[in-house]
Amino acid sequence: MEAMAASSAVARPTLRVAAFCGSLRKVSWHRGLIRAAEKLCEESIPGLHIDHVDISGLPMFNQDLETGDGEGFPPDVEAFRDRVRAADCFLFASPEYNYSITATLKNALDWGSRGKKSCWADRAAAIVCAGGTFGGGRASLHLRQVGVFLDLHFINKPELHVRGYEEPPKFDADGNLIDAETRERLRKVLLSLQAFSLRLQPKEI
Ligand SMILES: Cc1cc2nc3c(=O)[nH]c(=O)nc-3n(C[C@H](O)[C@H](O)[C@H](O)COP(=O)(O)O)c2cc1C
Repeated sequence: MEAMAASSAVARPTLRVAAFCGSLRKVSWHRGLIRAAEKLCEESIPGLHIDHVDISGLPMFNQDLETGDGEGFPPDVEAFRDRVRAADCFLFASPEYNYSITATLKNALDWGSRGKKSCWADRAAAIVCAGGTFGGGRASLHLRQVGVFLDLHFINKPELHVRGYEEPPKFDADGNLIDAETRERLRKVLLSLQAFSLRLQPKEI
């Protein structure tokens, strides 16, 4: 947790949200959702800061790359795991590939799960998806299932499943979120993540 958010009416800690994009596409809608979340936090959500953690360069998980009784990792993976550990909560921008999460995202989840203690453990998380008819809803359910073993605590409401192919367009040709209603729904997801994450913080007795 960082210093108290200066502009909030009630002083509360600034929570660091590590955000992950499950797509490698240059004009990814999901990266667009993370950019929109960054902007929303800067402009209208005191106490929440988005840290976009790029998972595109992680090697494909291979147990042979672990050293020292499974406690040592390649340098890129160590750096990734440090950023996961340092986060107060998580935002997963998760595309749906063939009714599930992408290999890119699963790879990152697997790397973070290794070692004596999962790097993901005991933190709040939110999922945002953009896809076809169900807006990525099936990927979201699979991610929740994986999160049980990682000891992630997902917010239940509100959900954000964007039907990306529907008119009017929700994203422009560069993957930027251009729909005001979707932006407002994203803001509510972030506020819910913030509230739940604060509830999970250890209390001083
Ligand atoms: C290999 C592949 C499988 C896909 N499977 C699904 C699917 O099961 N359900 C769905 O709604 N969309 C599916 N899609 C569409 C993606 O969800 C959609 O392209 C989305 O934009 C990807 O996110 P991005 O813009 O961040 O890359 C699939 C796309 C690809 C490339």
